[in-house]
Amino acid sequence: MISRNDPCWCGSGKKWKKCHHPFHAPEGFERQKEKYFKTYEIVLKTPEQIEGIRYACQLAATILKKVCAKAQAGVTTNALNTYAMELHTEAGARPAPLGYGSPPFPKAICTSLNEVICHGIPNDTPLVEGDILNIDVTCILNGYYGDCSAMVMIGTVSEEKEHVVNVSYECLMRAIAILKPGILISEIGRVIEDYASAEGCSVVSQFVAHGVGLEFHEAPQIPHCYNNLQIPLTPGMTFTIEPMINAGVRSGIIDPKDHWTARTTDGKPSAQWEHTVLITDEGYEILTLPKL
Ligand code: MF3
Ligand code: CO
Ligand code: CO
Repeated sequence: MISRNDPCWCGSGKKWKKCHHPFHAPEGFERQKEKYFKTYEIVLKTPEQIEGIRYACQLAATILKKVCAKAQAGVTTNALNTYAMELHTEAGARPAPLGYGSPPFPKAICTSLNEVICHGIPNDTPLVEGDILNIDVTCILNGYYGDCSAMVMIGTVSEEKEHVVNVSYECLMRAIAILKPGILISEIGRVIEDYASAEGCSVVSQFVAHGVGLEFHEAPQIPHCYNNLQIPLTPGMTFTIEPMINAGVRSGIIDPKDHWTARTTDGKPSAQWEHTVLITDEGYEILTLPKL
């Protein structure tokens, strides 16, 4: 049988995987694209779209890095929000969260502090030593979306907080490491929950990762916990992985007043890191790593 690195049967001199391989050949991609949309409502991205998504992701990563650098004791999350807004405007981009959903999210970024699982709303409370903060940036650039988030530890934090920050990062990177065509979506949740539970942490099941690129939230939904979603990854998929990991129980409750802020029900800390990734012929590419 012909293998991926053999010369293509058509005599082009290119490797099969770079030529008429079913995932690579234009007609093969078209057929796969149709199948993924019909079967799963997943939009596989064309090279042109990937180019646009790549720029949006680069910008999101750069903004995230700059905003994280400003997060220190005494600074309010509203100040971080204002700074993020400036960075978007400067770059000719728009923050996707602003006005998103219902009720419309009121700010440009999400800032989720300590026991907040996700979707925290920037406010006028200054950060204090011992806080852990997730900053989540999604930007829209030329119609394309890039989505990423990271944790900041303010000064010295408790062992429990530091642990959950490290475990959530490790969960994200371990899940990314297995990505390649043919891997099932269910394997992402398995890697994450295996590791988190071995570390004494729980995995939030109420919020999921998602396709992203042409819209903020596209198919598929990707659970971070054990699940049975038998969708094989295929080149051209762009999606996030964003495990929310709790030091205590997995359950959360959404603030009945603002309808966004999700907090752990036991008040214990929660942490999350997020990247947007692309599935390639070879494996994956992390699109939201900031260029040095
Ligand atoms: N950026 C978040 C995510 O990773 C979504 C935030 S929705 C918002 O999917 F409205 F709160 F911004
Ligand atoms: Co996301
Ligand atoms: Co996000």
